[in-house]
Amino acid sequence: MCGIIGYTGQREAAPILLDGLARLAYRGYDSAGIAVSDAGGHLLYCRAAGKLEKLIEKYQSGAAFHGSAGIGHTRWATHGAPCEHNAHPHFSYDGRVALVHNGIIENHRQLREELTRDGYVFRSETDTEVVVHLLHRCLAESGSEAEVLRMTLKRLSGSYALAILFASRPGEVWAVRRESPLIVGAGYGETFLASDVPALLPHTREVYEPAPDEIVRLAPDGIEILGEHGSAAPPRLTHIAWDADAAEKNGYGSFMEKEIHEIPGVLRRLLAVREPILPPSIAESLTGLVFIGCGSAYHVGLSAASFGETLTGLPVRVVIASEFRYHPVPLSARELVVAVSQSGETADTLAALREAKRRGAYVLAIVNVVGSSIAREADAVFYIQAGPEIAVATTKAYCAQVAAVYRLFLAIAAARTGSGYAAEISAALDSVPDAVETLLGERDTIRSLAAPLKEKNDVFFIGRGADYPACLEGSLKLKEISYIHAEAYPAGELKHGTISLISRGVPVIALVTQPPLAEKTLSGVEEVRARGAEALVFHDGEVPIPPGISAFPLPHVHPSLAPLISAVALELIALETAELRGLDPDMPRNLAKSVTVE
Ligand code: M6R
Repeated sequence: MCGIIGYTGQREAAPILLDGLARLAYRGYDSAGIAVSDAGGHLLYCRAAGKLEKLIEKYQSGAAFHGSAGIGHTRWATHGAPCEHNAHPHFSYDGRVALVHNGIIENHRQLREELTRDGYVFRSETDTEVVVHLLHRCLAESGSEAEVLRMTLKRLSGSYALAILFASRPGEVWAVRRESPLIVGAGYGETFLASDVPALLPHTREVYEPAPDEIVRLAPDGIEILGEHGSAAPPRLTHIAWDADAAEKNGYGSFMEKEIHEIPGVLRRLLAVREPILPPSIAESLTGLVFIGCGSAYHVGLSAASFGETLTGLPVRVVIASEFRYHPVPLSARELVVAVSQSGETADTLAALREAKRRGAYVLAIVNVVGSSIAREADAVFYIQAGPEIAVATTKAYCAQVAAVYRLFLAIAAARTGSGYAAEISAALDSVPDAVETLLGERDTIRSLAAPLKEKNDVFFIGRGADYPACLEGSLKLKEISYIHAEAYPAGELKHGTISLISRGVPVIALVTQPPLAEKTLSGVEEVRARGAEALVFHDGEVPIPPGISAFPLPHVHPSLAPLISAVALELIALETAELRGLDPDMPRNLAKSVTVE
C-alpha cells in the first residue's frame, strides 16, 4: 500500500526522498511524487504516474528544485485511477499546504460536498484531497498549525498516516497517524519519517511510533510531540536492531531469492528462542483455537491445524480475517484466537483481532514487524524475528510463522498433558533448517522443473492432509508473481468437477509427503496423467514413486513437519517461473506488501 517518506535537516531533501521512496517501493504502488519547501518557504513538487523511474526522470529533466525539508509518496490507487493528477502530494489551491496520505478517508464524499459548497475546487478523484482543503479552511480560523491539525482530525473518519508541509513553517514537516503505519526517526541535525523501517535504515535506527492522533512536528533539531497544552514530553526512541544491509539484496537477483535463502537462519533463530510463546496458565485452560489471517497468513493456520489437533486434542478452526470480522463465528471465552500477520498492519486482520477482543477472547499475535498495530493490540505477541521482508510474496516470514505455530502447539501440549509425540516433533524440528539448506542446494534442478511452466496458462496443485494447505500456499505464490492461473485441490476432490479442466499438457503439481496418504494421492496423479496432464510430484525422499512419473525427492523430515519443506520447494518453483517469464518477482502488479485498507 502507499508509502510515505519525510525529511528535514541540512541536506538537499529531494534525493533523500527519492531514495526513501525506492526503499518503500516493495509496498506496491502505481504513481509517486515529492514536495519540498525551499529557502523562501515556497512548496515545490513533482509527480508522475507509473514507476519511480518516471518521477526521477521528470525531476532530473527540469523539475529539479532545492530545499532541505520535504515529503514523498508512493500511491497504491484506491479512489481514482493511478494517474498524475491523483498522485500525491496534494495541495491547497493557494499552494500553502502540501500533504501525502496513506489510508482511506471514509467520509470523503460528505466532506467533498461540504467543501465544494464552500467554494473549494477539487483537482483529483482521491479521498485524500478533502484533507488538504480542510486544513486550508481551518488555517483561516486558527493561526496554530497544531490546532489546525486537531480541528481537521476531528472531521475525519477512517485511517490515515499524514505528512504535511505548511508554507508558513519552512524547514518543518508535520505528521499524524491513526490506524495506518508511520514512524519518525532522529538523526544528527536531521529528522525523518516513513511508513516502514527499511526506508530509514541508511539514516538512523532511533525511531518513534506516534500514538494515534498524536501531533508530531519534525525540525532539524529534533522531534516534538504537541499535546493540547503545548509541547509534551520528548518521545521515547526505540533502537531498531536490524542490520543496515538487512534491507539490501546483497548480491541476490531479487529480494525474494535472498529471503528464501535466509530461511534456514531464520528457522534456527526461531527454534533457539526459549521464552514461552503463550503464558502456561492460558495454555492449560484452553478449549480450542481459532486462527485468523489473510492470504499466506491464513495458510499458516491451515498448514498446522491438523497437526495441532492431533497433538493437543483441541479443536482448531482457521478463518479468513476478512470473513471473521463480519461473520459472527461462535467464540467461547476459553478459546485462544491467534492472529497471524507478517506486517502486523493488515487492516482485515487488525479488525478481526479487535472483534475477537470485543467478544472477550484472549488474542495471541504471531507477527514479524516489531511494534506494529496487531502486535500492540493483541494480549500477547510472539515475534518471529525474520528481519525485514521486502519482497511482496512472503517466504521466510511464512516459514517462520508455520514453525512458530508448531512451537505454540508443542507449548500447549506441554502445559496440558505432555506426550511422546510432542517430544518426537520437538526433536524433529531441529533438523528442518538443515533440510531446507539441502533443498536450496538443488536450485538448478528446480529451475529445470519450472522451465515447462513458463509457457502455461493454468497450473493445478493437488495434495492430501497436510499437503493440501501447502498446495494452497504454493498456488498462491505461483499466481502472485508469475501471473499464471493456479488452483489447489485436495487430491481426492478433482474428480468432483475440476478434472474436466485437465487436458493434454496441463501441468499438475502433486505433493506427496504423507506416507499413509501417498498411494491415494498417487492414484489422483495417475487419473490426471491418463487425461494427458504433465504431472510433477514433489515427494518425501522416503516415499517411493512409481517409475515413469516426473518426481523430485524433497529432503526427508518428520511427515508432520513436511509443510515447511514443501513450502520452500514451491516458493522456488514460483520464483524460477516468474524469472523465466522475465517478471520482477519482488513487485508483482496490483499487489502491496502490507494491505492496510479493507
Ligand atoms: O502482512 P500479512 O501477513 O498480514 O499479510 C497477509 C497477506 O496479505 C499476505 O500473506 C499475502 O497473501 C502475501 N503477499 C502472499 O505472498
